Amino acid sequence: MTPSAVMTESSLHIPVMLDEVITALMPAAGKVFIDATFGNGGYSRALLESADCQVAAIDRDPDAILRGQPMVQSYHSRFSLLEGPFSQIAQLCAGAGIDQADGIVFDLGVCSTQLDQAERGFSFRSDGPLDMRMSRQGRDASDIVNELDEAELADIIWRFGEERASRRIAKAIVRARLDARIERTGQLADIIRSVMPRPKPGQADSATRTFQALRIYINGELDELETALADCEKLLAPDGVLAIVSFHSLEDRIVKNFLNLKSGNIPAPSRHRPEIAPPAPAIYRLSPRKPILPSENEIAVNARSRSAKLRVARRLGLADLQERSA
Ligand SMILES: C[S@@+](CC[C@H](N)C(=O)[O-])C[C@H]1O[C@@H](n2cnc3c(N)ncnc32)[C@H](O)[C@@H]1O
Repeated sequence: MTPSAVMTESSLHIPVMLDEVITALMPAAGKVFIDATFGNGGYSRALLESADCQVAAIDRDPDAILRGQPMVQSYHSRFSLLEGPFSQIAQLCAGAGIDQADGIVFDLGVCSTQLDQAERGFSFRSDGPLDMRMSRQGRDASDIVNELDEAELADIIWRFGEERASRRIAKAIVRARLDARIERTGQLADIIRSVMPRPKPGQADSATRTFQALRIYINGELDELETALADCEKLLAPDGVLAIVSFHSLEDRIVKNFLNLKSGNIPAPSRHRPEIAPPAPAIYRLSPRKPILPSENEIAVNARSRSAKLRVARRLGLADLQERSA
């Protein structure tokens, strides 16, 4: 059975680059895997079906944990589902008795199930409360757009949305909230669209970048990623595989820089950028060196995969270390 064949018909989220991810992780009997972003369980299920291995899956969204309960029932002791942020990957796994893994996978961002539920407030495509919290805890998007000052809002929209019109949009938000509190996704999208040129055919909605920025800010997504990547070093066994699927340049830059640094693959010093400190010994090998991209076929079937990049690294094992010291 190919990995994609193990997807159940009830899955609402099509796992991105599933075959490539499972091939990279090399499931085998007795191995232990961590799926740091359970979502609808596409990767976890494929791993569990591919070999008699063990999987611990994490998600900070209580709805995902609920959706995964039938899998907990079917796979018994081979599968555990842990609720929490993946920045606490080491503590969460320790709580489930796992202190070493043969593979860790991240599939970043939100899943289609979250986007499609208007009441979660992630999307401007259908009107809903302006929420965007994956964990359903803490300040929501409505608190942010109604309470932050104009400069702070512009900074968030610029940094996390790479939106050139960030100041114009922040000004429009602050002006609009004088009339009424901004509570709905549709309301915010209309405010943004009212100060932006109409997108040309094929271009993204003008609210896309601002919605991305707010979501990343509210969920602390980039800090989460940086902390988790550093922690994987504690968990991965020698020869263990780290596989990360990212969906936008801010995420991919963090992953790329981290893996380059940890695999000793840093650019040579130049006249303009003299070397400051000698690089630390490599602990990963990029394999392959370049990111893996979805096939045209996959993009045709699942538009969400369009912007995905899969980066894979292998933790150096004993043989590599002996080779280095020889
Ligand atoms: C793209 S979906 C994963 C889809 C999954 N691979 C599948 O095949 O169904 C990402 C999931 O990761 C979760 N997530 C995102 N950031 C997280 C974080 N920092 N900690 C824990 N879970 C997170 C989201 O709640 C979402 O359910």
